[in-house]
Amino acid sequence: MKVRSLFLVFAICMFSGQFLSAQSDGNPVVEKLLSAYSPRNFTSTPVTEQQIDLILKCGMKAPSARNNQPWHFSVVLNKELMQEIMPNITDGNVLIVISGKENESGGTPDFDCGLAAENMFIAATSLGLGARLYGGPVSAARNNTEKLQVPSGFKPVIILRVGNIDASPDAASGATPRKPMEEVVKFVR
Ligand SMILES: Cc1cc2nc3c(=O)[nH]c(=O)nc-3n(C[C@H](O)[C@H](O)[C@H](O)COP(=O)(O)O)c2cc1C
Repeated sequence: MKVRSLFLVFAICMFSGQFLSAQSDGNPVVEKLLSAYSPRNFTSTPVTEQQIDLILKCGMKAPSARNNQPWHFSVVLNKELMQEIMPNITDGNVLIVISGKENESGGTPDFDCGLAAENMFIAATSLGLGARLYGGPVSAARNNTEKLQVPSGFKPVIILRVGNIDASPDAASGATPRKPMEEVVKFVR
């Protein structure tokens, strides 16, 4: 009986390992993308300057239409201003307000800012931090463009919250479920 149980555990491990590696092909970036999630359980351990610097560089590396780079990043470290934008903010968190250039002919600033935001979300997650995108508080950011030092002609589009988190649940327990592939994908042959 003991041997059978051991065999069963071994078989399950082998199967789940194969399943995971089939999903990610062992590629660390794919693995990170498939296991990323948007936490809320932030701790007050501060994000370091070096982490912020790397996250910003990844945002700035995003592709954009005609390489216009129609974005501006306000890195909010001031507690009072952070609370004005997001009242329930945790100490040690950083808010990055991403603003897009308005009236750019032929440009796609909102889309490009979204790409920069996703790059920063993945970078923060890969650095072992938690990251969550926020559209709700954008109106508060739009009311504070002067304090945020948003250049004229730019408008806040999305906000990235970055912080340390308690423990990382895996993708299955941490993430919001996704729609089934059959619903959102059609192979057109
Ligand atoms: C454009 C955009 C706006 C969002 N706005 C909010 C928001 O205002 N408040 C919030 O709690 N989460 C917000 N989110 C986070 C989403 O709820 C989250 O990405 C989604 O539920 C997937 O969660 P997961 O990454 O944990 O799977 C936003 C995400 C995006 C992409």
